[in-house]
Amino acid sequence: MPPDRMSPQVFAILSALVLDRCGMHFDTGHAPIFGDKVAARAQEAGFESLLDYYYFLRYDAGGSKELDALIEALVVGETYLFRELPPLEAVVNELVVPAVAAGRRPRIWCAACSTGEEPHTLAMLLAARGILGEVEIVASDISTRSLERARSGRFSRRALRQEVPPFAAGLLEVDERGIAVARRLTEAIRWQQVNLIDDAAVAALGTFEVVLCRNVLIYFNDKTAREVIDRLAGRLTGGGTLLVGVSESLLRFGTQLACEEQAGVFMYKKVS
Ligand SMILES: C[S@@+](CC[C@H](N)C(=O)[O-])C[C@H]1O[C@@H](n2cnc3c(N)ncnc32)[C@H](O)[C@@H]1O
Repeated sequence: MPPDRMSPQVFAILSALVLDRCGMHFDTGHAPIFGDKVAARAQEAGFESLLDYYYFLRYDAGGSKELDALIEALVVGETYLFRELPPLEAVVNELVVPAVAAGRRPRIWCAACSTGEEPHTLAMLLAARGILGEVEIVASDISTRSLERARSGRFSRRALRQEVPPFAAGLLEVDERGIAVARRLTEAIRWQQVNLIDDAAVAALGTFEVVLCRNVLIYFNDKTAREVIDRLAGRLTGGGTLLVGVSESLLRFGTQLACEEQAGVFMYKKVS
């Protein structure tokens, strides 16, 4: 039997559990979709009562693993190749190319890469400039399922929503079954599961000249977003840059990072 309908009380305690584990914030407006996804997951795990499911998640030895599975079901992995391309091109042209020319080996972290379209796009931009091997790219996400797909280097046709730009010609193959990215791009990226809420896991990554964290902060409440921004800022080298999504701004969070415009793109710089 499918589980009972989610009461406001159970919504409150279950959404608090999810918030605490991964930072994703569901307000009462999201209650119906949250309820559907939790109910489907609870049924799969063999629960008829959502309150029992909550107690299992919270107190049972297997609860932590099941909470990870629930979060897999709740994350929104919407992404596609060449998404918000001009800011990525600006990062490459204004920051990465000069760093390589200056003899450095810049480290770039794509901090919530979903199924990998964003870091693969970055890798294509670097390959087209002949500097893919001069750069270290780390791509992470909380979702191990998304990362598995990212590591395959294969995408559905939905991952391509525009013409293939000239710089990417020869770096991917498109046929009726989908898109396959050149293996050397996928292999140039270090894929890793990282929860942005986990201080120690984030700190263990080291420091970066560039951090991309695009279209992720929108899923967090202000408090969590502020904490994540501080955590990411802590991973930047002096003079390093954080790039967020085109519809996101850090200004209302009062960040220590300085907002700068480069090549028409707003970026956030760690003033050393
Ligand atoms: C909408 S996708 C953005 C993908 C890509 N950055 C882009 O702009 O196309 C949001 C991603 O954030 C990830 N995410 C959500 N909460 C996270 C957390 N606490 N730690 C790491 N990743 C998280 C989700 O798994 C999802 O893949």
